[in-house]
Amino acid sequence: MNSSSPLALHPTIFVIFGITGDLASGKLLPALLALYSKRMLPPNFAIIGFSRRSFSREEFRDYIREHLNVKPGKYHEEDIKHFLDHMSYEQGFFDNMPAYERLAERLRSIDDRWGQCSNKLFHLSVPPNMYEGILNNLAHSKLTVPCDDLSGWTRILIEKPFGNDIETARSLDKLLEVLFEEKQIFRIDHYLAKEALQNILAFRFMNQIFEPMWRREYIDKIHIKLMESEGVHSRGDFYDRIGALKDVGQNHLLQMLALVTMDEPRSYAADDIRRERAKVLKSLRRISTSELLKTAAKGQYDGYRSETGVSPQSKTETYIRLQASIGSSRWRGVPIYLESGKAMAESKTEIDVYFKKSKLKILDKKLEKDQSSSVSAAERQNILTFRIQPDEGIKIKFFLKKPGYEFAIDAKTLKFKYADVPSYADLPDDYERLIHDAFIGDQTLFASTEEIMASWKFVTPILANWDRLPLKSYQKGTKEIE
Ligand code: BG6
Repeated sequence: MNSSSPLALHPTIFVIFGITGDLASGKLLPALLALYSKRMLPPNFAIIGFSRRSFSREEFRDYIREHLNVKPGKYHEEDIKHFLDHMSYEQGFFDNMPAYERLAERLRSIDDRWGQCSNKLFHLSVPPNMYEGILNNLAHSKLTVPCDDLSGWTRILIEKPFGNDIETARSLDKLLEVLFEEKQIFRIDHYLAKEALQNILAFRFMNQIFEPMWRREYIDKIHIKLMESEGVHSRGDFYDRIGALKDVGQNHLLQMLALVTMDEPRSYAADDIRRERAKVLKSLRRISTSELLKTAAKGQYDGYRSETGVSPQSKTETYIRLQASIGSSRWRGVPIYLESGKAMAESKTEIDVYFKKSKLKILDKKLEKDQSSSVSAAERQNILTFRIQPDEGIKIKFFLKKPGYEFAIDAKTLKFKYADVPSYADLPDDYERLIHDAFIGDQTLFASTEEIMASWKFVTPILANWDRLPLKSYQKGTKEIE
C-alpha cells in the first residue's frame, strides 16, 4: 500500500452509474478532481456519467460544475475546467438495454480515439435495489468483458449496503460472480479507508508495549462508538427502509471491530489482511434472543418521523447498542460494545480499549485509606482510545503519583493528535484513497465477500428478533441513551 504511488498510466475510463446522485457529487467527483489536480490520473482518462435525466453537453457540464462539492478556492479554476473536459454523459434508464449498447459504443469510440484498449471501472452509485438490473444489463451488453487483446482490465466498485440480509447478500454475490472474478470486485466500506482506522494495524503490531497485552487476560472490554450529531436529512426515504443496524452496524462498526481485534496477518498483502479481518468476524458469537433482549438497545430520535421521506409511524431505529463477543481463545468473555446514533450530542467516532484493573493489593489498601487520591479504586483502569474522527488521534489514560507529601494517585492522559504534526494535518479523503486503490488494483481497503458474509451471519439472527426489542425515543442532542 503506497498512497503516493502514481496511478497506472494506462488509459482508463471511469463510468459512474447514477452521476446525478448525492454520492457522485459529494464524494466521487471531488475525489477524482483531487487525484486529477495531484496529477495522479493517467494522461488519457475519461469519466462517463450515466443517468436518467436528459442533458445537452453544455447542460451536463454546467450541472456538474454547479454540483461539484469542493471548497471555493481549493483548486485553480483552470484545473476544474480541464477536469470537466474529461467528462461526458450518457442518458439512459438503468433497465433499458439499448442505453447500455450506446454506452458500449461510446466506450469503443473512446478506445478507437486513444488507439488502445483502455481499463474500465464501473461505479454503481445508485440505490441498492438497482444493482441487480444494472449488473444483468452489464452482463448482457458485454461491457465488462475486457478487450480481446487483454490489455485493459475491467473492475466494478459497489457501495454498501451489500444486500439486505445474508440471503440477499448471497444472491448479489452470485450475480457478481457471473461477471467478475473476486479480484475485479471492489466492495466499498469507506470506513476502511479512514486514515486513523488504517493506523490501528500499524499501532497494534509495531508497538510491542501493547500487542502482548491485547487479549482477554489484560483487556476488560472494548467500546466502539460511531456518533453523529446530524439527523437523516434528505436521506429519510432510504434510511427509513434500513435503520442504523444495517446502515452502519453490519458494516462500519464491524469493520472497526475487526481491525481492533484481528490477529496479525501473515503478510501485509491485501489477501492476508482481508483473510484475518474475515477470520475474526467469523468468530463473532451469535447473540441469543435472551442476551439480545437483556443487553441490546435501540432508539429513535424525536422528530425523526417528520423527516422528509420517513413514515409518520416509522419504527426504524436511529440508535443502536449491542454487546458482541468473540469466541476465540484470545477474546473469549471480553464484551465488545457497538454503539451508533444519529442526532446525538456530538459527532465522534472512537474506539475505547479498557484494560483490566491493576491487582496490586498494596495499592488498593493505600487508596482506600487515602482520601486525597482523585482516582477511586473503581476508576483505576487504563484506557486506550483511538479517535477515528474528527480530531484524529490516540490517547492513553494512565496513573501517576500526585505531587505532594502524601502518596496519592492521580489520572492523566497522554495524547497524540494528527493535527499537531504539520505534515499529517491534511489527511487523504476516504474516497480519494478508495478510487486510487481501485485504479491500482489494491483491495486491502475493500471488503471481501468472506467479510460481508461473516458480518451478515452475525447480524441476521439479530434482525430476526429486532422487533422484540423496545424502541426508546430520545431527544435530539442526547449524550447517552440508557
Ligand atoms: C454511511 C451511512 O455509510 O456512513 C451514513 O450510510 C453515515 O448514514 C455515514 O452518516 C457516516 O460516514 P462518515 O464518513 O461521515 O463518518
